[in-house]
Amino acid sequence: MAEKFDVVVIGAGAAGLMCAAQAGERGRRVLVLDHAKKPGRKILIAGGGRCNFTNYDVSAKHYLSRNPHFVKSALAQYTNWDYISMIYKYGIEFEERDHGQLFCVGDYDSKDIVKMLLAECDKPSIQFRYQQAVDNIEQQANGFSLTTNGHEIECESLVIATGGLSMPKLGATPFGYKVAAQFGLEVLPTSAALVPFTLHKEDKEDFSELSGIAIPVEITAKNNTKFKEALLFTHRGLSGPSVLQISSYWTPGEAVEVNLVPDVDVQALLTRSLEKHPNQTLKNTLAKVLPKRLVEVLIERKTLEDKPLKQFSSKALEDVANTLEHWSIAPNGTEGYRTAEVTLGGVNTDHLSSKTMECKAIKGLYFIGEVVDVTGWLGGYNFQWCWSSGYVAGQWV
Ligand code: FDA
Repeated sequence: MAEKFDVVVIGAGAAGLMCAAQAGERGRRVLVLDHAKKPGRKILIAGGGRCNFTNYDVSAKHYLSRNPHFVKSALAQYTNWDYISMIYKYGIEFEERDHGQLFCVGDYDSKDIVKMLLAECDKPSIQFRYQQAVDNIEQQANGFSLTTNGHEIECESLVIATGGLSMPKLGATPFGYKVAAQFGLEVLPTSAALVPFTLHKEDKEDFSELSGIAIPVEITAKNNTKFKEALLFTHRGLSGPSVLQISSYWTPGEAVEVNLVPDVDVQALLTRSLEKHPNQTLKNTLAKVLPKRLVEVLIERKTLEDKPLKQFSSKALEDVANTLEHWSIAPNGTEGYRTAEVTLGGVNTDHLSSKTMECKAIKGLYFIGEVVDVTGWLGGYNFQWCWSSGYVAGQWV
C-alpha cells in the first residue's frame, strides 16, 4: 500500500523549506524528500557563512528570465520585508552591506537561517526524509505517485524544488529538469552564472601574478549592462562581485569592457601632473590611482607606453585615459558549475502560473526556486526568489 500525503516537496533547500512551512501552516500533510543527508546546504555556505538572505531593494529588474515580468507576482505576494519580519521574529541580528545586501551579523550566521526555516517547519503535519532516491514519478487521476528508496508514496501536489546545477559537490543534480522534460515542459538552456571568468593562456600568464589584488571598476557586457563593484585578479582569471554579476550577461566569445578608473578623472590627473612634474613617468603617475603592479603589467603587455609625461602629446594622454576607461578583455570561459553560485535558464516560465507556480497544463505539479528560469543578481536576490516562489506555492499546494 502506498503511503499518502497531501504534498510532497522534493528538495530541502531554500525554496522547498519555505514551501513546506507554508503548506504545513495550512494544515496540509507534507513530506519533504532530499537525497542529501541534511537540509539547506547552500544556505549554510552562502555569504561566506553569513548568508546574504535578501536585499533592501528588490524588484523585477534584479532578475534575468526569458519573461522578465514573471517574478513580479511572487515578489509582491511575499516581499523582502516579509522575510525581514521573520528574521526579526527569530531575533536574528543582521547588517546592511553595499547595495542594500542583508547579512547575518555578530553571533548569528547561516546556521540560524536554516534553524529558523526548520523551526517554521516544526509541525506535526510535516515530515522530513533524507538520503532519499526518488524515481518513478507518475501522474494519477488525483495527483502523483512516486517511489523513494523503493517505497511507494502518493500525493495530491508535487513540488519540485531541487535547484539548479551549480556546485554538484553540494548535491546539485539535473533532477528538476528531468521531471520537467518528463511532463513535456521546455527547459531553457542552462549555463553557470555568478561565476568567475577564466582567461586565455597569455592573459592568464600576465595577470595571474596580480592574484589577490582587488580594484573598484565599472564592468560592461556587450548588451550594455553595467555593474560598478570590485574586480579581483585570481590565479585562474578574474573574479570579484563585478565579474560575478556580469557573468550572467556574458556570452562565450565576447569581450567585456572594464573601466579601471571609474572614480578618477585620469585625463585631469595626467594634465595636472604634466604641468607640475613633466619628468615624472606615466607609470609613477598612474601608480597614484591604480596598483603599481597592474600598471606595470599593462606596460609589459604594451597596453600602455611608459615614458616621461612631457614626451606625450595631449592626444596621447587622452588616449591613455581612454584606454584605462575602456579596457577590453575577452574571457576564455567561466569556472563553470564547480564554483558558480547559480544556474541561468531552467524550466520555461511560460508553463507556470506566476501567481501560484503551478504548471498550467498539469494540475498539482509545482516548480519553485532556482530550477525555474529565474536568476537573480548577486546580493540576496536568489534567496528572495526562493522565499517568494516557495511561499506562494505553499498557499496553493
Ligand atoms: P537548492 O540547491 O538550495 O536546494 C535544492 C535541494 O534539492 C538540495 O537540498 C539538494 O540536495 C536537493 N536535490 C537535488 N537533487 C535532488 C535529487 N535528485 N533528489 C532529491 N533531492 C535533490 N544566494 C543569495 O541570495 N545569497 C547568497 O548569499 C548566496 N550565496 C551563495 C553561495 C554559494 C557558494 C552558492 C553555490 C550559491 C549562493 N547563492 C546565494 C545562491 C542560492 O544558494 C541558490 O539560489 C539557492 O540555494 C537555490 O535554492 P533552491 O531551494 O532552489 O535550491
